Amino acid sequence: MPRKSPAKALPDFPWDSLASAKQKAQSHPDGIVNLSVGTPVDPVAPVIQDALASVAAVPGYPTTHGTDELREATSASLARRYGVTGVDPAAILPVIGTKEVIAWLPTLLGLGAEDLVVIPEVAYPTYEVGALLAGTRVLRADGTAQLGPQTPALIFVNSPSNPTGKVLGVPHLRKVVEFARERGAIVASDECYLGLTWEDEAVSILDPRVCGGDHTGLLAIHSLSKTSNLASYRAGFLAGDPELVAELLEVRKHAGLMMPTPIQAAMAAALTDDDQEREQRERYRRRREILLAAVRGAGLTVDNSEAGLYLWATRGEDCRDTVDWFAERGILVAPGDFYGPRGVKHVRIALTASDERIAAGASRLG
Ligand SMILES: Cc1ncc(COP(=O)(O)O)c(C=O)c1O
Repeated sequence: MPRKSPAKALPDFPWDSLASAKQKAQSHPDGIVNLSVGTPVDPVAPVIQDALASVAAVPGYPTTHGTDELREATSASLARRYGVTGVDPAAILPVIGTKEVIAWLPTLLGLGAEDLVVIPEVAYPTYEVGALLAGTRVLRADGTAQLGPQTPALIFVNSPSNPTGKVLGVPHLRKVVEFARERGAIVASDECYLGLTWEDEAVSILDPRVCGGDHTGLLAIHSLSKTSNLASYRAGFLAGDPELVAELLEVRKHAGLMMPTPIQAAMAAALTDDDQEREQRERYRRRREILLAAVRGAGLTVDNSEAGLYLWATRGEDCRDTVDWFAERGILVAPGDFYGPRGVKHVRIALTASDERIAAGASRLG
């Protein structure tokens, strides 16, 4: 039998298709304003850097479950920042950035060809990648009604959403949890942008109003990449169903998926210090206000975008034409078709640029 490379099952890396728009935007006399990738640009807070350095001399292997200090800091931060109480530190698992755990979750849970993974209609691409790596079936659906009689094994939800910025309210999330419980599905809730809300409150799948305080079958996925600028450190965690977390811990131990000791220390500091998190949120709030006004002023319609780090905007045309329209003004944005067929008329505009570049982008739109 010829070897079946997983690479063949995966889509082409979509960013390559932006090369010509990028070249056009780069030719602007004042340089490119790159609002396509959501990569943080602000420095890591000193309190986090110090924590990283404080254990830089430690030579031994870290534990896959993380230090007690890290898991206690994580549990306390969930209660303090998001009102998610009662998470046993044992039911927390550090991950090497959440992209890693999203891409491998269906595999780590033992899903395969017989199983169905549900992902949002317009979605962060790694949910589909995870399903493809495990060889499962995939369905894009935003509501339980779209599933008919099917029984999914795993449902990904993402609120606030990348790319749309849409927030799912308590009733919606509660319905997902009830549906999943009736059919024995696991819900993986990607809450990477939960701390970055501008208009509405966003709630965790573990919020007592959503799950009634019962975390069975639920996994919340949290990243520190955006809330504490730790994209370069690779820091995130899973929290939720104690049995599922214990099972994932077991597999991850065998697979060597452990977070480096200095990153564990940095993450514990980031989850303990709310000041740096608040400061970062306020930076993004200011950038969002400037960009939102400029994008609307230029005649685009901004849909959803009530939370998270992106504006989901449309000129009522194919997204690739809108990408070109921005590129002519020296601005690079991401086409909505990266995120699923339903995104074809939108572009995603990231708020993750320096104040200077955001101002430059806004003035080019004006
Ligand atoms: C919705 C969503 N989930 C997960 C991630 C992955 O973040 P990280 O791997 O940096 O934790 C991202 C990154 O942009 C994202 O937008």
